[in-house]
Amino acid sequence: MTLVGVAVAKNIKNSHENFDEKIAFFKSKGAIVPDRKLIKTPEQIEKIRESAKVNIAVLDYVSEHIKAGISTAQIDEWVYDITTKMGAIPAPLNYEGFPKSVCTSINDQVCHGIPSEDIILQDGDIINVDASTILDGYFSDSSRMFCIGNVSEENRKLVEVAKKSLEVGLEQVKPWGYLGDMGQAIYDFVKSHGYNVVRNIGGHGIGLEFHEEPWVSYCSRKGTEMVMAPGLIFTIEPMINMGTHEVFIDSDDNWTVYTDDGAPSAQWEIQVLVTETGYEIISY
Ligand code: MF3
Ligand code: CO
Repeated sequence: MTLVGVAVAKNIKNSHENFDEKIAFFKSKGAIVPDRKLIKTPEQIEKIRESAKVNIAVLDYVSEHIKAGISTAQIDEWVYDITTKMGAIPAPLNYEGFPKSVCTSINDQVCHGIPSEDIILQDGDIINVDASTILDGYFSDSSRMFCIGNVSEENRKLVEVAKKSLEVGLEQVKPWGYLGDMGQAIYDFVKSHGYNVVRNIGGHGIGLEFHEEPWVSYCSRKGTEMVMAPGLIFTIEPMINMGTHEVFIDSDDNWTVYTDDGAPSAQWEIQVLVTETGYEIISY
């Protein structure tokens, strides 16, 4: 009877207390644990979901209209118009001096490409469109790849593997796992296809800011990096190169990242919440 009583008393401990105990336990093991401010409340999560609805709508529109012959400035215009009509702000615009509302990165561009009137989509191009939204002060971020017209079998496969790598990573997202479980799963999967993962650019926490802790690597090791406590929100956005993992930044615009060897690169990005039972995809 007493034993049962003890068990009941333990069970009715509020979840806040259990959470703090878990955090203390992982900390005592020397694990990296998230700061309390990185753990989103249900109210914050709801606001972030609302922001993501705009981000998803933007990318849905792009996916329905993108085609050969349009400029990347046209994509930028769509993103700006839809985002602002929905009462939100494109997060990239003026972010650390970024001049446009969205990133558009074609072929050997890895990320952070700047939309331009002079860049016209050609048959056979592969392009990443990376949208980020601020709604009512809450942030969302996701990106998709698009194949323009007749894309080579080789490049199509790169795009597919990059997409599949997110599913492989997601399988590892569970409460009280490690970000490195996800990172290694993605890394091993990508390597098994003969591709390479960009190392010095990664994902990030997001929600109350555009880029919060943790920095998220996709060449990390199982059982390392931050503990995935429920309420943590971060992006999964590995950049996958057909050739070398080495990249460089355009010295003229100081933004566009290219592969060192000129081989193509692909990236999809989702924004993920760690829940009590697994994960929720917030933006895609
Ligand atoms: N959306 C990018 C990310 O995934 C960030 C772009 S920053 C910008 O983190 F200024 F280039 F827009
Ligand atoms: Co991101």
